Amino acid sequence: MHLHQSVWAATAIPPDFLPLTDDLRVEVCVVGAGIAGLSTAYLLAKAGKSVAVLDDGPIGGGMTQMTTGHLVNMMDDRYFELEAIHGVQGARLAAQSHSDAIDRIESIVALEKIDCDFSRLDGFLFLADSDEEATLDKELQAAHRAGLHAVTKLDRAPFTSFDSGPCLRFPQVAQFHALKYLAGLAKAIRRDGGRIFTGSHAEGIKPGTPARVRCGSHTVTADAVVVATNVPVNSRFAIHTKQAPYMTYVIGARVPRGSVPKILSWDTGDPYHYVRLQAMEDDDLLIVGGEDHKSGQANDGKRRQARLEAWARERFPMMGPLEFAWGGQIMETVDYLAFIGRSPMDDENVFVATGDSGMGLTHGTIAAIIISDSILGRQNRWAKLYNASRKPIGAAREYGRENLNVARQYAQWLTPGEVEGVEEIARDDGAVLRRGLSKIAVYRDSMGAVHASNAACPHLGCIVHWNRSEKTWDCPCHGSRFDRFGKVMNGPANRDLAKVSRRRSARARRPVWVEVLLSGLAAGVGSALVASAFTRRNYGHAARAMNSVAHIYDGEPTPAKDAPARRNTAIGSALHLAASVGWAALFEGIFGNRARADAPAALAGGACVAATAYVVDYHVVPKRLRPGFEEHLTPSQMFCVYTALAAGFALPVVLSRLRGHQIKNADER
Ligand SMILES: Cc1cc2nc3c(=O)[nH]c(=O)nc-3n(C[C@H](O)[C@H](O)[C@H](O)COP(=O)(O)OP(=O)(O)OC[C@H]3O[C@@H](n4cnc5c(N)ncnc54)[C@H](O)[C@@H]3O)c2cc1C
Ligand code: FES
Repeated sequence: MHLHQSVWAATAIPPDFLPLTDDLRVEVCVVGAGIAGLSTAYLLAKAGKSVAVLDDGPIGGGMTQMTTGHLVNMMDDRYFELEAIHGVQGARLAAQSHSDAIDRIESIVALEKIDCDFSRLDGFLFLADSDEEATLDKELQAAHRAGLHAVTKLDRAPFTSFDSGPCLRFPQVAQFHALKYLAGLAKAIRRDGGRIFTGSHAEGIKPGTPARVRCGSHTVTADAVVVATNVPVNSRFAIHTKQAPYMTYVIGARVPRGSVPKILSWDTGDPYHYVRLQAMEDDDLLIVGGEDHKSGQANDGKRRQARLEAWARERFPMMGPLEFAWGGQIMETVDYLAFIGRSPMDDENVFVATGDSGMGLTHGTIAAIIISDSILGRQNRWAKLYNASRKPIGAAREYGRENLNVARQYAQWLTPGEVEGVEEIARDDGAVLRRGLSKIAVYRDSMGAVHASNAACPHLGCIVHWNRSEKTWDCPCHGSRFDRFGKVMNGPANRDLAKVSRRRSARARRPVWVEVLLSGLAAGVGSALVASAFTRRNYGHAARAMNSVAHIYDGEPTPAKDAPARRNTAIGSALHLAASVGWAALFEGIFGNRARADAPAALAGGACVAATAYVVDYHVVPKRLRPGFEEHLTPSQMFCVYTALAAGFALPVVLSRLRGHQIKNADER
């Protein structure tokens, strides 16, 4: 069985291109050679622009190779939902744009003579088990209002192996072999003078006139840049709060030719099932997809694929054994339409295409039309609808729900690891471990060797999760995905997960009690110095730093130089240092081995413990242990003292971080 490989990748060889080896000056630089990037480059090269395309993999090696290749004007989020947000006119424009995208693909296939199994056929939307006929009626009326008057309602779809019940027929939609189509586009781009570079990772996109795309030691300078990386790698926030990543799964099994009608179909479930056929040598491959879940928030892809298989076998009992099982990610926007056009909060000459949803092939083609029109200075009637800077006002609830979900993901910083140690991870499997305050993404390869990366996503720091069925690390927040070794596959992150070195530093080897003592003393002395700075006026000089803290403990409002005062100072200082070491021990106990922690997390942890120390020391401990302290320091000064305490706890961790992370290798255990 082809695991993790789509039927398209198994049945097409992508044309070869070389990496970028020189600086380059072009009119347009397109980053990403999926359907959105190559379609844009094709239209621009055809219009006479000098174009360079950069992709860090082969062409089509992103989500385009994972598609199922339905080309449709049936909205997978329903026309009546779209209408509620964008109005009848918006739904009408959306219907037009998807229909025109199919027409555009068809005309390119004909013009460029691309052999990519393109064919027109009918699509059928039937009811999921849990749904009611009223959904179809509502959708039929909304589709008609959107201008799709040829959509009709039927008693059943033309399947013979099961009765689908009532359905809507969307006539003259289409299907194709996406990778063969991209190969044809690439050939035409080259013919028209465009240049394509694969194995060329765009590390940085610097807006400006001209804009600059840095790719290793080379730079592509361009009048305009199109970021067609599926999820924009040039934007940190603007777009990512308006869309959410979902994994979707596909299986493929042979069926005798003619036993399943050649149509496209979907049910109305949420998540929905999608079905099509692909002709193989002697028979057909039945392709069934669905079982979507929020990326990084489930690790049961195999079970989902098993459920897909059960669903398909119930309806298509003639199915042979599974031949393909793969999965990929789609970006669901909160208001159901892609974000296409000028990159929000960026220069005018930087463009993005994202928010593909389950309709990324037509959305990618629409993006090519809108963006090329914009670069060529033409008006485009869909540009406003898809404007990437639009505010999702009509979708405020969905926006809130998705962003609350993202906020919740940060709680993962506080949860235990999925396993205690690397020896609990099976071969060819991965898991997230806790090491002190940080989390480590550990993959054990089939030979048992350990590959460890920092589990904090380089985009905005969410903790990545292992996806067992796809063997990837998926970020639950905005769609970044990394391969098993931590290499970035999907934006918005644009660099790999940080490597965790296996080298064990002197710090890692030092006994924990030494660490606790050192950080406790650092915290104690540091906070005393800060307190001393505030009370210098009272004491006259800073050298007797401990006095200030000591008198907070012993309650003496002014220092005295006699023997009882010195004794008080000594007792107070000792108390303060002992308390600091105690708090450091608690910090160690709660957060584990700090020597392997992350600096920011250690600072946060230090702050938590220092805040607790503040509450306990000065609000919970009986007043008689601290009479008069309020006269020494104001609350804001106390805040500074406790910030110093927190920094002291975290200091060894920060120093350790500067020397790199450590994790025990399986072999070292
Ligand atoms: C299982 C599945 C089924 C689907 N079915 C359908 C369907 O039936 N119909 C439909 O319309 N849509 C479908 N989709 C969606 C559709 O396939 C995708 O949305 C679409 O192919 C995405 O195209 P793209 O060009 O935006 O992105 P991609 O194809 O992902 O291309 C982006 C490219 O950018 C490159 N890249 C990323 N970062 C960098 C960088 N920093 N430097 C250089 N290169 C970079 C990547 O290597 C990649 O090649 C499906 C998706 C999945 C996962
Ligand atoms: S994708 Fe945004 S934090 Fe990971």
